[in-house]
Amino acid sequence: MAAMTTSRFDTLQAPPKDPILGVKEEFLADAATDKINLSVGAYRTDEGQPWVLPPVAEARKRLIEGKLEHEYLPSTGLKSYCDRVDLLLRGKTSETSATVQGLSGTGGLRLCFEFLRRHHSPTVYVPAVTWSNHWNVLRDAGCDARPYTYLDGIKLDWPKLVADLEQAEEGAIILLHLCAHNPSGVDPSSEQWRELCALCQRKRFLPVFDSAYLGFASGDVDKDAAPFRLFCENGLQPWACISFSKNFGLYSERAGAVVASCASAREASAVRGHLGKLARALYSNPPAFGARVVDAVLADAALEARWRECLVVMSGRIADMRAKLRSALEARTARDWFVHCVGIKVRASARAIDATVCHAIDATVSARWRDGRCPRRSHITSQVGMFSYTGLNKQQVLRLRAEHHVYMLESGRLSMAGVTSSNVEPLAAAIAAVL
Ligand SMILES: Cc1ncc(COP(=O)(O)O)c(C=O)c1O
Repeated sequence: MAAMTTSRFDTLQAPPKDPILGVKEEFLADAATDKINLSVGAYRTDEGQPWVLPPVAEARKRLIEGKLEHEYLPSTGLKSYCDRVDLLLRGKTSETSATVQGLSGTGGLRLCFEFLRRHHSPTVYVPAVTWSNHWNVLRDAGCDARPYTYLDGIKLDWPKLVADLEQAEEGAIILLHLCAHNPSGVDPSSEQWRELCALCQRKRFLPVFDSAYLGFASGDVDKDAAPFRLFCENGLQPWACISFSKNFGLYSERAGAVVASCASAREASAVRGHLGKLARALYSNPPAFGARVVDAVLADAALEARWRECLVVMSGRIADMRAKLRSALEARTARDWFVHCVGIKVRASARAIDATVCHAIDATVSARWRDGRCPRRSHITSQVGMFSYTGLNKQQVLRLRAEHHVYMLESGRLSMAGVTSSNVEPLAAAIAAVL
């Protein structure tokens, strides 16, 4: 038989690099020994190392020493795990909940939106600034993803957010970040969540909470779960897509869940069945090990208490690094870091304005800050969770990579989890050098 000479895929171009994973590749290719990777959202200890949470290590040991078989799970996943995850998120049991295991956060989102597009609506309103993979997941699930305003620079743009959602189609799906918004670290206040809840009620929206950082924002699961519980109490029947990558450190184990709030136990059973049917065609059944680890931790009061302490440790270390980075930046730039970013913004957005006017505005605000006439605040410390939107622009980010071997996303997002006591000073020096 003659060898085939024509190419089947010669018109196919290599896809553009993923905005997050592509930066990691660039970091790995950098030969510098003092390089700093702040691109990927994975927790690191103060020594810059991954952390296997002690209760997770203990649960893992017990599982391996016990009778660990490798039978298939049902398409809906491990039942005891689903029940415990549901309880963890809601804070109480519910007869009308349909919770199924997902392939961590990403797979859960895909399953959730496959279901909602088929059985509810294809229209999903997404924060204009969001985790970049949301757009990919929604596109591949066949949804019509529409942005709603979330930020103005580095602040929540509450008036525009509300105005956009007021204009949104009635009955549509609205994607919300439960806590520790990725990439900005900017969450609505409790009062704003109450207003958002009333707005969703009025517009008959179906809220879906992306819950990838439960317990990571405040160090307290119950506090972080409050918006979901508020929406439940007000009869909105919200959904949630949970990931245990960050809060259990189970990144590669793909432990997650889709939590659906329904009107009745009968409806919940039908929804669970259909989610399972979709999972059957997508991947048949989920992986068991990570779910078993989470299940074992949540089944044991002592292990669960130790896990909750780990959340305090992780969120506490990140808060500590925020404070250290802020003071290191302020020491180097001799001004409030927030004011500095505003100054940058004034200059960037006002190319039409004379450069001396921009400098004058910046200098006046900075002087006010120095003599105490301006409130001392900084977005570096007011943002929560793993990420910080620094306010650095693309050009500054590219200079940080090329000249200082510091890697963050082009949007200026850095992962605070990668900041440590030993790299915080060189990091501040590098940032100050590109301003
Ligand atoms: C907002 C958000 N949602 C979902 C995910 C996906 O999580 P997982 O890695 O568990 O699929 C991430 C991960 O970074 C995230 O930041």
